[in-house]
Amino acid sequence: MTDEQHHRHIRSFVRREGKLTTGQSNAIEQLWPTHGVDLSNSLLAFDTLFARSAPTVLEIGFGNGLSLADMAEQHPELNFFGVEVHRPGVGSLLVQVKQRGLENVRVSQDDAVQVLEQQVPEGSLHRVQIFFPDPWHKKRHHKRRLLQAEFVAALVQRLAPGGTIHVATDWEHYAEHILEVLAANTDLENTSTHEHGYVDKPAYRPDTKYEARGIRLGHGVWDLVFKKN
Ligand SMILES: C[S@@+](CC[C@H](N)C(=O)[O-])C[C@H]1O[C@@H](n2cnc3c(N)ncnc32)[C@H](O)[C@@H]1O
Repeated sequence: MTDEQHHRHIRSFVRREGKLTTGQSNAIEQLWPTHGVDLSNSLLAFDTLFARSAPTVLEIGFGNGLSLADMAEQHPELNFFGVEVHRPGVGSLLVQVKQRGLENVRVSQDDAVQVLEQQVPEGSLHRVQIFFPDPWHKKRHHKRRLLQAEFVAALVQRLAPGGTIHVATDWEHYAEHILEVLAANTDLENTSTHEHGYVDKPAYRPDTKYEARGIRLGHGVWDLVFKKN
């Protein structure tokens, strides 16, 4: 096994067996055939998946999906492809999709590392957003962090020219690590106009559940937006 293959087996998440509410399991049952994306070895055609041609935003780790649903409602001109391994989160997003009648959302319940590698075509994304990724703050767990050079390179390959990567975190040391990893990718340019390298929270990003939790705990919030040349 090469180092690269070994690295791919280290997951950025622990599958938690959360219980689904009746509403969530009904929403999954009803909407999965039209809104769900199963893991496969074939590349997705977003125009077919969304039944129209529009810029596509990939959100990795959307949690309970409320902020993703808000964005999808506020930006009907964009397609939103959400990937989240936590099944109750997927159910919660689909409840919102159903209640709000959102037509521009599709969802995968698999590991984003695999989904990206196997299903997302090169140059197909307008934006990738990763809000409050698990910080894995213990040093021995740093290898589980999603934002690593290899994964960023895979993301950049899937971005269209001019496309952006937007990451937000409430962990200062992870923010510094993410800044370093994004800045080291020569195909990316930092959009920040501040010397510290972070951006002011873009107006399009709603508050998220984990953000609120971080703020309650006295954490700061750091947003990073890099653009593909
Ligand atoms: C700390 S939570 C943040 C959730 C949400 N973005 C928020 O701000 O409230 C991180 C989420 O990322 C998901 N996640 C972690 N690694 C993932 C991966 N490789 N693929 C898909 N989802 C992942 C976890 O299941 C978890 O729900």
